[in-house]
Amino acid sequence: MTNQSPIKVFITGAANGLAEVREGLADHPDVELVGTAADPVKAGAKLAESAAQVILHGTTATEHVPTPEVEAIRAVTAAPIVLVTSASANTLLSEALQAGIHDVVLLPQLTDGIVFTIKKAHSLAAGRAAGAAGKAASHAEGKVVTLFSPKGGSGKTVLASNLAAVFARHQGRRTLLLDLDLQFGDAAIMMGIEPEKTIYDLVMARRELDSDALAGYVTAHQSGVHVLPAPLRPEDAELVTEERLGHLFAVAKESYDVIVVDTPPFFHGPVLATLDRTDQLLLVASPDVPTVKNIKLTMQTLDLLHYPKERRHLLLNRAGSKVGLKAQEIERALDMKVAFEVPVEREVAVSVNRGVPIAISSPRSAVGKSLQDVADKLVPLRTTGAVEGGGKKFRRKG
Ligand SMILES: Nc1ncnc2c1ncn2[C@@H]1O[C@H](COP(=O)(O)OP(=O)(O)OP(=O)(O)O)[C@@H](O)[C@H]1O
Ligand SMILES: [Mg+2]
Repeated sequence: MTNQSPIKVFITGAANGLAEVREGLADHPDVELVGTAADPVKAGAKLAESAAQVILHGTTATEHVPTPEVEAIRAVTAAPIVLVTSASANTLLSEALQAGIHDVVLLPQLTDGIVFTIKKAHSLAAGRAAGAAGKAASHAEGKVVTLFSPKGGSGKTVLASNLAAVFARHQGRRTLLLDLDLQFGDAAIMMGIEPEKTIYDLVMARRELDSDALAGYVTAHQSGVHVLPAPLRPEDAELVTEERLGHLFAVAKESYDVIVVDTPPFFHGPVLATLDRTDQLLLVASPDVPTVKNIKLTMQTLDLLHYPKERRHLLLNRAGSKVGLKAQEIERALDMKVAFEVPVEREVAVSVNRGVPIAISSPRSAVGKSLQDVADKLVPLRTTGAVEGGGKKFRRKG
């Protein structure tokens, strides 16, 4: 650990002596304080964006683990939690491990002792993540989740970028966001990143594509998502051939647990090539008559392509808007269940313009929560290797 960069620590809560702990850590070379917040429930976005690696949570509770506060922290970060308390806390200690707390520090304590606890929590958590990733790599290949809608503006890109953020940040998955809206892709803008390379550079490269090479073309977002953006110039779109894409998917499935694909509002070669490899297809509908009509046509096309019904999921975006169609009306028109509903939320437009996915800035917003549900159901954590209906390839006719 000695020659590594300082561990990012976020301090939440309150306890007698916590201020002294903070002062001690502020001067310590092995630790970087990335934020403090007395109330973790209110700290959501700040905590989520801090990229903290360890959370020190001060508590005055002596009997029990402060569950609501621990849950509020867990909702926005997977970083290990160390409880700090000044009380002698017998029951607290025995409950802590069961509650998923990494360690408990009883104050007063020398700064070096606290830093040691922080390092231990960090290295245990890192070891566990590496172990999980290794397991995933050896047993499973990444799952491809594709968002499609035949209507422009239905919310594919907003939902794709937020869903990717949820997979990476909340589920701790290795996640790639692949922008296959090759002419006018704006996934990078919605993630607020300025990429140095795009899929255009990847397909033009001479070097054989493998996991290492792929890593050189993606841009890492602070949520943990890796983004492979669309070409910068629309005329470069046609250089991304089906054959190249096939190879890209093969390599990406080795490197990532989940690959979220954003698409243009029409079927063309690259979208068909993507469908061939899609484990879960999210059909994004907004609650208006033209969109529903076009989704119906899309279903017919998918039938012709023999795309399995169990991999199709209807997602109603902007649900609950006063003027829009109701879920039941759409289900009746399409003869298909609405699997997911994402509500309309004013803050979405703000998040798009700020370039920060709402699932990161407000994980507890209605949109953030509904996308956590989508992520949990589409690629359940317990079954990384065995998504229902996934795995086997379907073959297009012709
Ligand atoms: N649930 C929502 N609540 C509020 N606004 C939303 C919601 N979903 C999408 N929007 C708004 O709709 C706009 C269009 O969404 P988005 O760009 O994701 O659509 P798209 O399907 O990717 O469009 P295109 O086909 O042109 O790429 C966004 O800028 C956003 O402001
Ligand atoms: Mg789009």
